[in-house]
Amino acid sequence: CWGPEWPGLLLLFQIQQTGSLDKVVSWTHEFPYAHQLWVGQFLGFLNIYDPDYAKAVYSRGDPKAPDFYDFFLQWIGKGLLVLQGPKWFQHRKLLTPGFHYDVLKPYVALFAESTRIMLDKWEKKAREQKSFDIYSDVGHMALDSLMKCTFGKGTSGLNDRDNNYYLSVEELTLLMQQRIYSFQYHNDFIYFLTPHGRRFLRACQVAHDHTDQVIRERKAALQDEKERERIQSKRHLDFLDILLGARDEEGIKLSDEDLRAEVDTFMFEGHDTTTSAISWVLYCMSLYPEHQRRCREEIQEILGDRDTLKWDDLAEMTYLTMCIKESFRLYPPVPQVYRQLSQPVNFVDGRSLPEGSLISLHIYALHRNSTVWPDPEVFNPLRFSPENVAGRHSFAFIPFSAGPRNCIGQQFAMAEVKVVTALCLLRFEFAPDPSRLPIKMPQLVLRSKNGIHLHLKPLGPGSEK
Ligand code: HEM
Repeated sequence: CWGPEWPGLLLLFQIQQTGSLDKVVSWTHEFPYAHQLWVGQFLGFLNIYDPDYAKAVYSRGDPKAPDFYDFFLQWIGKGLLVLQGPKWFQHRKLLTPGFHYDVLKPYVALFAESTRIMLDKWEKKAREQKSFDIYSDVGHMALDSLMKCTFGKGTSGLNDRDNNYYLSVEELTLLMQQRIYSFQYHNDFIYFLTPHGRRFLRACQVAHDHTDQVIRERKAALQDEKERERIQSKRHLDFLDILLGARDEEGIKLSDEDLRAEVDTFMFEGHDTTTSAISWVLYCMSLYPEHQRRCREEIQEILGDRDTLKWDDLAEMTYLTMCIKESFRLYPPVPQVYRQLSQPVNFVDGRSLPEGSLISLHIYALHRNSTVWPDPEVFNPLRFSPENVAGRHSFAFIPFSAGPRNCIGQQFAMAEVKVVTALCLLRFEFAPDPSRLPIKMPQLVLRSKNGIHLHLKPLGPGSEK
């Protein structure tokens, strides 16, 4: 149990409720730095939302809290997200080249292709002149892109087996979220007897069979010299090519089990997060027409007469990047991350925690902490101008977490968010629907209980790129 130096008490069932995120923010005034968070009687976390506190824990490589991350194992296995110790280090080193910008560059065209399919769909919906929920369409688009980047195919090139995989990833994501927030489902034995648990197992089977088969086929193809040459001279490598080619200093490669875990981790981490990110960025754009207009003008200027985006364009989208960051501050796609201390920690104010303590880093509350961010509720992209960023605490803005266990996919994610948002802004003007404003809900990623309903006004063929 916690000592008296750790005040405050919030129960997890309060956390799940809508409005709970802002409740934690209000607690930052009452309990600077941290407060206790209890899941039932026996499981207590220290909820932290101060940059120095975050740095004290997250600059170290403490393991993930098993009470939270073990729910992921059945599906994504021991991939980078849940691994720890030397094996995590080995995998992180092997996978890092997969996120080199030379690998990411050609993905711009893949992101654009998936986005165009979504925008064509939106063109039809917009004709009805009613607001509609963009979240699930963004989700389809993000998964489609990711399948292209991981396996070299998207919905356009999907066979029945791939389609089933696609559906099972969607189902697994949803079921896992429901499980984490339903205490009655926490026990494996009970969960797998319920209809939800059985659906989860069936979907896991489909996902694992698909990943295994794609790996087998790709490996078989590599045995064939001609095919190997074809793959090596491919216009771009997909993530599976990188994983299959990865070797450590001793020439040791990933086992089949490790390969599957990394592919499944990538598929899970890589689409739900970007779906949340893009949806909230578009929501912010809709709320602030002035910023929306400036971003659109910036993109039009960068493109000039061209009609396709290139990797180098992304670095020039400075205003859009600031708006994306400000959206990530107010609506962090991953609102909380958890650790279990492998050794005691001493915080700057003299308080300490023993080994074994559970920590929840509340990114949402940190990003709205008024001692860190003046007028935290105000959307002001200029917070991310170079002058304003200089001198800011390195743990004040951490949508991708920070320290050794930060997000390996952040460049991939930023590239995708920029491409998708830029193309959306060229095709449509976005406005909110005041009668259906989103209700924030933390479910692994930041979602909205009632979807994200926006009005879309087509900008006409002249502005389409
Ligand atoms: C805007 C989109 C994204 C956000 C906000 C985000 C955020 C995060 C955060 C906060 C963590 C730390 C998780 C923890 O400590 O439990 C993380 C880890 C991770 N992310 Fe992302 N992520 C995004 C996109 C992606 C993408 C696109 C990929 C892959 C393609 C990816 C792959 C991973 C992996 C593999 C880890 C575990 C890294 C490790 O522990 O070494 N993420 N991400």
